[in-house]
Amino acid sequence: MDKKLSGQVAIITGASSGIGAGVAKSLSAAGAIVVINYPVPPVKDAAEAVLAEIKAAGGTGITAICDVSRENEVQKMFADTIQQFGTVDILINNAGLQKDAPFDEMTLEQWNFVLSVNLTGQFLCAREAIREFLRRGVDPKRSRAAGKIVHMSSVHEVIPWAGHANYAASKGGIMMLMKTISQEFAHKKIRINSISPGAIQTPINYRDWQTPEALDKLMTLIPYKRIGTPDDIGRAAVWLCSDDSDYVNGISLFVDGGMTLYPDFTENG
Ligand code: BGC
Repeated sequence: MDKKLSGQVAIITGASSGIGAGVAKSLSAAGAIVVINYPVPPVKDAAEAVLAEIKAAGGTGITAICDVSRENEVQKMFADTIQQFGTVDILINNAGLQKDAPFDEMTLEQWNFVLSVNLTGQFLCAREAIREFLRRGVDPKRSRAAGKIVHMSSVHEVIPWAGHANYAASKGGIMMLMKTISQEFAHKKIRINSISPGAIQTPINYRDWQTPEALDKLMTLIPYKRIGTPDDIGRAAVWLCSDDSDYVNGISLFVDGGMTLYPDFTENG
């Protein structure tokens, strides 16, 4: 692959598995130095395994523990990264989770947990990244932009999702967080966009693909008739972080096999 991100430092939150791990590998293949964030000690080994794979392929990086919903931990992760690598060029604001429940049974704890990681976590990380981008400014040897943020949203920033009110609300919130700060900092040459994945084969949705029956049912929602892979998202992230997309600000890039085309309307309506 063309090394479009050569020497740029990228923090990828929630990179010990799933989409985050895939994006870390893609950014590394494009030449970035990757900081593989993981939230709690029990997933350290998974993060180290992602890093080992990246190093075996010739990449460079570290792992970093940090619960993105905690301000002091986020600030420490950014400070440590800047101390070790000099700056941060790219933030992949990816960490996210689901705690699903029928709305009338949803506990405040389930609501708060999802909002604190998925939305507050993206706020805290984006704020630290922007502070560093503003401090450094544009360095043409690195990139045409002073920095890039990619928020990991979801098709559920626009598709309502019964039984997942906390998750869908967090993703709708991410959309306006992304657009607002993109508007606020574009003049500082900071580019901020989202990727909105559809069904990507990862642990978060294993129930939807673990049996042939489940997968068949899922396919009714995907016009392109395949489940996505973390690599599909990784390649989109490389593009959004590279100067190839230098005139792209404030978009949600749907990478979803057509899930947002409302396939139910193909022969109805
Ligand atoms: C969710 C997955 C789901 C996909 C499509 C994602 O944001 O995390 O569980 O499969 O949206 O509905």
